[in-house]
Amino acid sequence: MTESSAAPKSSFAVTTAEDADIPAIVALWERCELTRPWNEPQADLDRARKKPNSDVLVARDGNTIAATVMVGHDGHRGWVYYVAVDPDQREKGYGRAIMTAAEDWLRDRGVEKLQLLVRADNTRVQAFYETLDYEEQERVIYAKWLDGRPMTP
Ligand SMILES: CC(C)(COP(=O)(O)OP(=O)(O)OC[C@H]1O[C@@H](n2cnc3c(N)ncnc32)[C@H](O)[C@@H]1OP(=O)(O)O)[C@@H](O)C(=O)NCCC(=O)NCCS
Repeated sequence: MTESSAAPKSSFAVTTAEDADIPAIVALWERCELTRPWNEPQADLDRARKKPNSDVLVARDGNTIAATVMVGHDGHRGWVYYVAVDPDQREKGYGRAIMTAAEDWLRDRGVEKLQLLVRADNTRVQAFYETLDYEEQERVIYAKWLDGRPMTP
């Protein structure tokens, strides 16, 4: 990929999501196929925003939201979810910029390590994270719905 601009690729302005951004964020997550029937995006946003341990960050192309990340920490490790770049805005550096912003958000709060989950069949995004110096870790993930429902895929 060639540089399309003289500006560093991680220089896009990233801000905290505002209330008025919510419909556009949900639409972007749907376009990026990141929503799942068992995750209600509006509830996920409400839970994560404006809490001391989590937030939702956005990068804009003018007035349009080009990229998002949900970032947070559990007091030990940092995590990101909903890393999404508008399909029409990919390969312009937004993905790197939003991940840099998430890393800075965590660093500012004293968190030393960022972890993230990638579905095994999402090989394209694995290549993206490896470009950003993330390394695959040998771990097995266990999960359980606390309301007793059967495990989702
Ligand atoms: C993955 C995603 C966030 C990348 O966003 P993007 O804006 O296209 O990424 P960038 O332009 O910032 O690319 C950053 C670097 O990663 C590389 N990269 C991006 N996508 C890549 C891919 N599919 N394969 C290999 N490298 C890739 C770029 O070449 C670039 O490298 P460089 O800076 O050394 O030139 C975007 O494709 C996306 O939203 N995918 C769908 C949603 C998704 O799967 N999210 C992750 C859920 S875990």
